[in-house]
Amino acid sequence: MSEMKVQKKFPIHAEVNVSPDKSITHRAVMFASLSSGECVINNYLNSKDCYSTIEAFRKLGIKIVEEKNRVLKVYGKGLNGLSQPQEVIDACNSGTTVRLLLGILSGNEIEATIVGDESLSKRPMARVIEPLSLMGAKIAAKENNFLPIKIVGNKNLKPITWTSKIPSAQVKSSILFAGMYARGETIYKEPTLSRDHTERIMQYLKLPISKKELVVSIKGKVKEIKPFEITIPDDPSSASYFIAMGVLVPNSSILIKNVCINPTRIGFINILIKMGAKINFINPRILYNEPIADIKVESSKLKSIKITEDMVPSMIDELPLLAVVATQADGITEIKGAQELRVKESDRIKSIVTELQKLGAKVIERPDGMIIMGNTNLKPTRDNVLETYSDHRIAMSLAVAGSICDGEVIIKDAECVEISFPDFWNLYNSI
Ligand code: S3P
Repeated sequence: MSEMKVQKKFPIHAEVNVSPDKSITHRAVMFASLSSGECVINNYLNSKDCYSTIEAFRKLGIKIVEEKNRVLKVYGKGLNGLSQPQEVIDACNSGTTVRLLLGILSGNEIEATIVGDESLSKRPMARVIEPLSLMGAKIAAKENNFLPIKIVGNKNLKPITWTSKIPSAQVKSSILFAGMYARGETIYKEPTLSRDHTERIMQYLKLPISKKELVVSIKGKVKEIKPFEITIPDDPSSASYFIAMGVLVPNSSILIKNVCINPTRIGFINILIKMGAKINFINPRILYNEPIADIKVESSKLKSIKITEDMVPSMIDELPLLAVVATQADGITEIKGAQELRVKESDRIKSIVTELQKLGAKVIERPDGMIIMGNTNLKPTRDNVLETYSDHRIAMSLAVAGSICDGEVIIKDAECVEISFPDFWNLYNSI
């Protein structure tokens, strides 16, 4: 599949399961690899990004076996059990793999080289290189910021207190992983709360962390991570495309089962509710220290909204989709303080603005966000071929745009959804 044709959807009435959570799968594989024995990860995400993490740990000597029914067995070798890789580690497209792995490798006395694909090789790494170097890892990177990166770890890391200017769960997690190896307490402060899955797994595994609002700390020289079993809930970011279709396609209702509703991840849902969307959480429950629920969505009339910097982290990956949704709201929607979007898998501000304009949307690009006029009938203007920039979130956001567009749309490089949601097109076409 290189391109996908999409068309306006008729009213949708469906009950769906989306893909397992990407962020939690990465972390589960990492903690399991550092545990002292056999771990079971149920409902792991078998997407390209997660395979980047799985392959990285295999190269570091960890046996990882994919069993039937989406069960992953990871045979951990302890916190200091990773072995010297014989080849370079390829993180491919995955920022989470490279940034979190650098934190882990910082505390292990091995030498490794990490490379990535064209997109990942352009993404900034100084945000983790700086604090990890201060802790005592030796890291050499192209222009001190980009892949390829060579790292030599140090089993006697120095604890640090790090105040991050950007709210980034990847930076936070990287430092918390390294903090497990430091000789004292490592403290991390962030400007706005970013996703907290690392902290939640650490609590579930009874590791010595404490958190209070925007500050999280870990006591170092952790001796053991006990082998564990975990079930991964489904991904709220993957659910968001079906939530948006349920809201936008007239006379529809969709039930999405078993979705993680961690407050640090559901900014998009909360904003849609503020815009007037009929969305309800059914049967909320806790699973392995993560809140989950079934999400019921019905077609709704929306009004515009203003997104400010403090709201960005909890909906960072959904902002391109929000731009699509905002074209249908009553009024002008403004997104500010979202400059981080420019250093994702593509420059997501430029990507979504350019492609939505091809559908007749009135969208203005800003250095830190965009302005979107509502009440717009989407319709291909000059040509109906949309670029994805090989960015999974842009592809899926455009698929949602196509589902309410007058006239057929062709989405190029459609297979890039495999990064986070391999079954996306099957599910999209089935509803
Ligand atoms: C992620 C954190 C976010 C997010 C990414 C996954 C994670 O990145 O955009 O898709 O799993 O920690 P940043 O930490 O760079 O904001």
